[in-house]
Amino acid sequence: MRFDIITIFPEFFGAVFDYGIVRRARAAGLVEVAAHDLRGWTKDKHKVVDDRPFGGGDGMVLKPEPIFEAVESLAGACDANSLRAKGVRVVLLSPQGRVLTQGVAGELARCEHVVVICGRYEGVDERVADRLATDEISIGDYVLSGGEPAAVVLVDAVVRLIPGALGSETSAVNESFAEDVLDFPHYTRPPEFRGMRVPEILLGGHHAGIARWRRRAALRKTRRNRPDLLEDASLSEEDRAGLDEPEE
Ligand code: ADE
Repeated sequence: MRFDIITIFPEFFGAVFDYGIVRRARAAGLVEVAAHDLRGWTKDKHKVVDDRPFGGGDGMVLKPEPIFEAVESLAGACDANSLRAKGVRVVLLSPQGRVLTQGVAGELARCEHVVVICGRYEGVDERVADRLATDEISIGDYVLSGGEPAAVVLVDAVVRLIPGALGSETSAVNESFAEDVLDFPHYTRPPEFRGMRVPEILLGGHHAGIARWRRRAALRKTRRNRPDLLEDASLSEEDRAGLDEPEE
């Protein structure tokens, strides 16, 4: 799989992909990640990438021409339909996009080539979202000053879902959001720290008991921190009973 990131700050990505799972996946040849300077696709002497908004207002808007040129040279097409037909996804990162979820990340992990456009300033000329991007994605309901941090989040979330990227194939399945329930709480040594004891059941080898405890703890944590997720979760009788028991 390959990521091409189009940005006006290519240096921003200097070392962020040199750590942990992304580094390992790159070293193993599972993924390539490259950041490209949008200014390289400008044609004027001053390499201008932005301009004032039609209709007035504050801030500057990223111009469409260099972005279309960039995608054409990186992906061999510059309209969303042809790109989709070639199996290329062109992701425009913006707060107006659909929200990145584990499901969206999984969808992208099945693609061979993802081009990521980092928005900047007050916005990006809407013709990019209308005709060039196959996807407009937001990493959450808050506004960043640019799409660069969002690109790092997107690449990380997608790369760890590429088969072989994680040490153990089961680790991506157990964790938060794999089935609309948050991950269960984890503990390591020491068994008692500053008066806080690790739940007794985890210290023994009763596997079924541990599994039951983890499921119940995950459900309770989900109810406490993200009750919205439980509306869509499919809960068994035992799940519901566990949620109804008083906290010990
Ligand atoms: N650019 C600015 N804010 C953003 C967000 N929330 N997600 C993706 N790109 C952005």
